[in-house]
Amino acid sequence: MTPEIQVELADGVLTATMSRPDKKNALTNAMYGALADAVARANDDDAIRVLLIQADGDLFTAGNDVSEFAAQAMGNRDAEERHVLRFLRALATATVPIVAAVQGKAVGVGTTMLLHCDYVLLADDAQLITPFVNLALVPEAASSYLLPLCIGHTRAFEMFALGDPVPADSAVAWGIANRTVPLAELRTEARRIAGKLAARPTGSLTAMKRLMRDAEKLVTQMDSESAIFVERLASAEAKEAFTAFAQKRAPDFSKLARQ
Ligand code: COA
Repeated sequence: MTPEIQVELADGVLTATMSRPDKKNALTNAMYGALADAVARANDDDAIRVLLIQADGDLFTAGNDVSEFAAQAMGNRDAEERHVLRFLRALATATVPIVAAVQGKAVGVGTTMLLHCDYVLLADDAQLITPFVNLALVPEAASSYLLPLCIGHTRAFEMFALGDPVPADSAVAWGIANRTVPLAELRTEARRIAGKLAARPTGSLTAMKRLMRDAEKLVTQMDSESAIFVERLASAEAKEAFTAFAQKRAPDFSKLARQ
């Protein structure tokens, strides 16, 4: 349990709220653990008909806590279970419908987790950012498969390789999200959509979702990504990227050869 993930059940909707606003909801191992537990609970408990993921503060999440990436790259976290893997697998195999409400920036896993959600509502200030290559890493959460499938190779390549923010209206036009709403209406509208889904026949919804998502393929893709991700974490490029983040400067990859 961590106070940085708030979980609440009301009227068949389990709401998981990322709540570490001072660090832009950057996700720690403990937070991934709590999110993984929430997804598993939503999937296993018949009283829960919909999972809603949202965030406190001015942005959805800054993605993985970069200092934890750095510690992992130094081999300092080897003994710990990596709850991120449990969270991503739970998302990929979930049959409960998942709604996401996104304001501000959704960075890294903040964007890739949306590819596993079934209804994505964006505030009009939302921006989707996937800076894996900027951090000398590779995409995760089966996004190397799901994003090109969703928006085509050229747009997905640009999002991954350049890491530039994709504004909310483009994300909707490309099919990553359902629609935008004014920021002030985000939570109410997300709750309304979740309520509508909760009123639908849940057996039918979960059977439909199972037909629409190839969970086995997603888990296989995640395993392939994870092996390469761990290799890249240990690279000199990643070391430079994390050092630059800690020193609040731009990284300089120009002197590093391909490895
Ligand atoms: N990991 C750890 N800490 C993070 C973080 C992350 N991913 N993102 C932000 N923070 C911390 C900052 O270090 C800062 O901490 P401090 O107050 O102790 O200095 C605090 O959160 C506020 O961040 P700040 O950068 O001042 O906020 P901002 O509104 O100017 O910018 C972001 C927000 C998300 C654009 C920016 O913080 C950012 O780019 N973060 C890194 C995102 C990233 O690369 N994530 C990994 C994806 S794979």
